[in-house]
Amino acid sequence: MSKKYTVTSALPYANGPLHIGHIAGAYLPADIYVRYRKANGDDVLFICGSDEHGAAITLRAKKDGVSPQEIVDKYHSINKKAFADLGIKFDIFHRTSSELHHQTASEYFKNLEEKEVFTQKTSEQFFDEEHQQFLADRYITGDCPKCYAVGAYGDQCEKCGSALSPSELKNPISTLSGKTPIMKTTSHWYLPMQKHEAWLKKWIEEGVLDDKKHHDPKTWRSQVLGQCKAWIDGGLQERAMTRDLDWGVKVPVEGADGKVLYVWLDAPIGYISATKQWAIENGQDWKSYWQGDDVELVHFIGKDNIVFHCIIFPIILHAHGNYVLPTNVPANEFLNLEGEKLSTSRNWAIWLHQYIKDFKNQQDVLRYALCATSPETKDTDFTWKDFQARNNSELVGILGNFVNRVVVLTNKYWGGKVPRQRELTTYDKEVLQALKNTPVKIGESIERYKFREALSDMMSLARLGNKYLADTEPWKLKKTDEERTQTIINVALQLAASLSILSKPFLPFTAEKLAVMLNISETAWEQSTKQLLSANHQIEKASLLFDRIEDEQIESQLAKLG
Ligand code: 2FM
Ligand code: ZN
Repeated sequence: MSKKYTVTSALPYANGPLHIGHIAGAYLPADIYVRYRKANGDDVLFICGSDEHGAAITLRAKKDGVSPQEIVDKYHSINKKAFADLGIKFDIFHRTSSELHHQTASEYFKNLEEKEVFTQKTSEQFFDEEHQQFLADRYITGDCPKCYAVGAYGDQCEKCGSALSPSELKNPISTLSGKTPIMKTTSHWYLPMQKHEAWLKKWIEEGVLDDKKHHDPKTWRSQVLGQCKAWIDGGLQERAMTRDLDWGVKVPVEGADGKVLYVWLDAPIGYISATKQWAIENGQDWKSYWQGDDVELVHFIGKDNIVFHCIIFPIILHAHGNYVLPTNVPANEFLNLEGEKLSTSRNWAIWLHQYIKDFKNQQDVLRYALCATSPETKDTDFTWKDFQARNNSELVGILGNFVNRVVVLTNKYWGGKVPRQRELTTYDKEVLQALKNTPVKIGESIERYKFREALSDMMSLARLGNKYLADTEPWKLKKTDEERTQTIINVALQLAASLSILSKPFLPFTAEKLAVMLNISETAWEQSTKQLLSANHQIEKASLLFDRIEDEQIESQLAKLG
């Protein structure tokens, strides 16, 4: 049986549109990874969908005076379209409000309940009397007990990063009513995580699971390991896996009315139900992507979901049995915008659907700028000026310019027929050697989740092509040395052809245009190490791969912020 890759991106909440922070965090890197793996011939399934449950959605519905279903219907389709428009190509984009998901999550809960994985416990929790509602952690703010920052959330202090529970907050306030909430008794199902500490520690720190080598921890990002270690060393605790809410997957136990599964038991099971839906639609076996011996499960997420995917979900998978555990969780840090944290409420964001409208057919520019500033190891900053510079000097100036020159010359000199390669100089050979080596290098970087490095290697090949033409100046040689001119253009065309494959994970729309221009259909990664164009192969006329972005465009975008 061949190896399978199950790749997930965090299910975005369907309570608002997507912005570039989401894309840079969990979706673009995953899409690049998947596109590369597919080009490499791997059996990959790319899973995502809308997370349609949770208090944020009910709150939003309340504010807008509509039903939660209306909210999620609206944003599910907006987000699904925005992803497709940006070329984020999931194999399925499912939804957690679907019947299949409810059934899957419900069965999963029952399985764990039968195995006595949960403990049931009564406790006092914050209740907003005005809204007659128990308060989700996020709807309680107060002073952080660790660093004393004001405005810490009930689940986490964003100032010092400590994980909190609402009862630890000093001076708690309900964000629904702005009043001090009361304590009220309720009962919930808890996951005693401390019981799982031994195997979890071994799995995370040594990559060993059930006495077998599972993965190499050295391949995990240090901030991911760091957060996990901090959690484990801080002592794992029991956590409530259910909530009092009337919107979500009902706790499938008699007498549990008004209780639903918490996001930890709901959203990641959405990965599984999405796989089931895909399998139904494609006549496949979903289990082979979750339960096989040879499955690599990779979760792409933002750093706010690290503990969720590295500790809680693995416990849930392991406790159930049969399921594979993630081999890697390449979580990204955060992307800032113009030096400030992205904020939906302050409209400090670049909305995807808005970008798509304002920059027609320029999806790849955003993909490029986001990948080039991808927050892989630390928070990074997106600025419109940088976006413009990356487009004008790198995409237009290097990649676009190189392709344009070589295609124009081929058409001008030989009516678009690829000229023959004659005797090769050392320089020609060096360029062809780079063509052979670069794909391997890019592939290795992507497999190590180093997407910025991979993108930079791809651009280096274009840069080399540009330099090669500038150094050899075939347009000057044409009159005096036809054979040399033919050889140079042939070599440059081979690079351009290779780039149509190599650029595809990052710039899929451009890659497609380039392939059409060169009239080639090869897409397999391995092909990019070869000289794909034979003499006399007919190419098309040149058309520009990228357009310059002018100052006015950037200024009008800056004016939209805040
Ligand atoms: O944090 C979030 O955005 C939630 N919608 C959960 C995402 S992770 C998941 F899908 F498991
Ligand atoms: Zn704090």
